[in-house]
Formats: sequence, structure tokens, C-alpha cells
Amino acid sequence: MIHVAVLGYGTVGSGVVEVISTNREELKNRIGDEVQVKYVLDLREFPGSSIEKILVHDFETIVNDDEVDIVVEAMGGLNPAYSFAKASLEHGKSYCTSNKELVAKYGPELLKLAEEKNSNFFFEASVGGGIPVIRPLNECLTADKILEICGILNGTTNYILTKMSREGLDFDTVLKEAQELGYAERNPEADVEGYDACRKIAILTSLAYGKHIDFEDIYTEGITKITDVDFKYAAKMGRVIKLFGKSRQENGKTYAMVAPFMIDESNPLYSVNGVLNGILVKGNMLGDTMFYGSGAGKLPTASAVVSDVVEAAKHKGETVRQIWSAQKLELGEFKDYTGKFFVRVKGSEDELLEEITGLFGNVEVFHADGVTGEFGFITGSMKESEFASCAEKCRGMITRIRVE
Ligand code: HSE
Repeated sequence: MIHVAVLGYGTVGSGVVEVISTNREELKNRIGDEVQVKYVLDLREFPGSSIEKILVHDFETIVNDDEVDIVVEAMGGLNPAYSFAKASLEHGKSYCTSNKELVAKYGPELLKLAEEKNSNFFFEASVGGGIPVIRPLNECLTADKILEICGILNGTTNYILTKMSREGLDFDTVLKEAQELGYAERNPEADVEGYDACRKIAILTSLAYGKHIDFEDIYTEGITKITDVDFKYAAKMGRVIKLFGKSRQENGKTYAMVAPFMIDESNPLYSVNGVLNGILVKGNMLGDTMFYGSGAGKLPTASAVVSDVVEAAKHKGETVRQIWSAQKLELGEFKDYTGKFFVRVKGSEDELLEEITGLFGNVEVFHADGVTGEFGFITGSMKESEFASCAEKCRGMITRIRVE
């Protein structure tokens, strides 16, 4: 019997209990042993619920019970998750978590601790919810040098951008709707400002290159400045706007960023809509491969967590090698990152185009249906620093969005 303790009985934690109970037979067949949830830790009471008899309020009961093999954490946040993770691993238990904040900040330390104790620290659900991407990176894409990772890593923002694109609505209206539907948090800052996607691309990039990226070093821009007028231009150009978490290797350096991008239908991520996530990984031998599916939600996320439980149960007493050292991965300077930009300016093409081409070189001009008193253009490929200095001199500039 494999004994599991679940920390936190919120959306994901209750999903984990449900997956283990619904798929009891499948798990038993795959592991060759039965999985039982011995404890659920939560501060709240759940009278009358199926977990009433296994509910505990103190972590000590769990960590000091030698029968508990695997601790599942679905609480989120750094405290007390970090101390619970350390204590669990120090007691030789495996720790499976969906907590991207914990993984992005303490991944290398907790992996090392797990290795010292012949246990495992697994975090499949921390990126892409239910989509298998961490294990494929660790165990399948091992013959390749990873050249690029580009993902729609946040379901809430993808829902908002998809709805703005399809229905012509403005950001605030769609955010309110997303909150009412329970997709966006009451405090949606981590999603809409790109912080959630930033932690996720930091985790993926650290695993791809085996060294630690400090997520605070990643240039991060959210979607709060994207307007319904931007989508009118995007529609005119046959494009959509997506929030990307990206990293790529160029001239021996790794560049990483989170920002909204305008993409056309030649990009496989073009069709990733609503709350779904998609992650494109480019290998030097494999070329492109894409992971697609439910990036959030109770049962998809719980499914990924329980897949970690299965992996931990199958490797009881031995550590599955995951390479992510504490050594810092040096990031290339953001100012040297190159790409194209879509720019909107106030005024008329006749009046401003000469000045604009004088600054940016040749550009492609666009006029959106029903939008007057301004126009848009797409630049050629240029460095972030070059763009910034041209943008400073550009008269009447309203906004800019990166283009791929
Ligand atoms: N808030 C996250 C999202 C949850 O919207 O994708 C899953 O990490």
C-alpha cells in the first residue's frame, strides 16, 4: 500500500483525492500496489464530506508518520509550502506539487535534498496544468539540444485575449466576466501582469538547460495594456494576440521573456484558444513539437499531480534524475533580443510616414476598419534597444506589440 497525504483541500487538492478514488484500479495496475490517501491537511473543517475522518490540522502528524510515502501539496504560495516540502523530503518522503512559485524559487534546492534522501521532488502540474511537459522535457527530449521554448502558459489570460479577439470586447469587460466564471482570481494580478507565466517559463527553461534561471531576471510584460483597438488591427492583418512565455538560445546566450505577441496562422499556437495552453519546443534534431491541452482546472491539474504520485510510487527509495542545478543560467541582455514590432501612431500616414521610415527603416502600414485619426505599421527585425530608441523619437506613438 502506498500512503499519500494531501496538503490543502482546495480546488486541486480535492481533485487529487477524487482522481485517486475514481481511478483506483488504473493506479493499482500501473504501480502494482494500491494508493490510499491517509491524511488531508487543511485549516478548515469539512463536516459530512468523504475526507472528514482523514482530515488533520497539523502537519506534524503527517511528517512524523513513517507510513506516509508521498506528500502532495496543492496549497500554493511559498509559506508554509517551502518548509513543508523541506521537512517532507528530510523525512525521506517524496513531495509532489502543483505550486509553481515554490518550484521556480526553490526547485534546485528541493531536487538536491530529494536526491540526498533517495526520494523525489516532482512538479508536473506546476506548468501547463494537466499537460505533460515536465516529464517529456526530462525523459523524452533528451537527445536534443533545446533551441527554443514558446508557450501560452496561462489559461486566464488566454481566455481573456481569445474573448477580446472574437467578440471585440475591451479588457476590463472580459476580465470581469472571467472573474464571474471563476477563471480569473479576485486578485488577477499574477495572471494578467504575466507573473504566473514568468515562473512557468523559468521552470521550463531551467529544466531545458539544467541550470537555474532566477524568474526575477526575466523581462515580463502582461496584457493589461492590450485594447480592443489593437485587436481591430490584428483582425485586419489576419493575426491574433497571445501572451507568450518564451526562451531561446542565440549566439551561445539564453534569452527569456514574457510579453504579448501578434502572431499569424502559420504559428501553431495561433489556434490555442480559451483557457487552453500550448507549449512549442524546438529541438536541434527533432524540430518543433507541441504540447497542448488543459492548462488549469481541478481535474486536469489533479491528473498531472497524481501522475507524479504514480512516478514516485514506482520509484520508491530511488531518485529519478532531473537536472536542474543551483548554478545560475546567465541570461543574454534583454536589449539585444531581436524581433519585429507592431506600432500604432496618432496622425495620418501622409503626414508621418517619411519620418517613420527615417527612424525605423521600411515598414508595412495598416489601417484598421472603423479606426480613424491613427494608423499602424510593422517594423523589420530590430533589437529591443534599437526599437526603444526609435520609439522615443516617434511622434504620436500610441502603443507597440511584438510581432512574430
Ligand atoms: N492561474 C493559472 C492560469 C492557473 O490561469 O493558467 C494554472 O496555473
